[in-house]
Amino acid sequence: MKKVVSLAAMLGLILSSSAVFAVDTCVKCHKSMDKVAEYIKKSGAKSADELVDFLRNKSAKKALHKSVKDEDIKKAFAEVKK
Ligand code: HEC
Repeated sequence: MKKVVSLAAMLGLILSSSAVFAVDTCVKCHKSMDKVAEYIKKSGAKSADELVDFLRNKSAKKALHKSVKDEDIKKAFAEVKK
């Protein structure tokens, strides 16, 4: 029983910390979420899917974002729109 509780506590920790650092991937290169937010605003994307499309197909910097997962792009969008 104890094990289950500590496991649940750990899961909670992991989940809550990943909510704060939701877009680690972006921050690795962009240094801060503020920068990412600025770029996302400039891109004019109105939805997470549009942002994915922009970074995958339209951006002049698309090659830089090949290694970035769709999920992370969507997370970044959600984070910025908070
Ligand atoms: C491998 C490094 C790297 C990663 C990882 C990365 N970026 Fe970028 N990104 C760049 C660079 C470099 C630029 C160009 C910056 C500049 O023009 O000064 C850029 C530009 C952008 C732009 C503007 C593109 C344009 O054409 O106007 C957006 C939006 C963006 N990044 C979003 C993201 C998001 C969201 C993530 C995480 C899901 C992410 N990036 C992850 C390196 C990266």
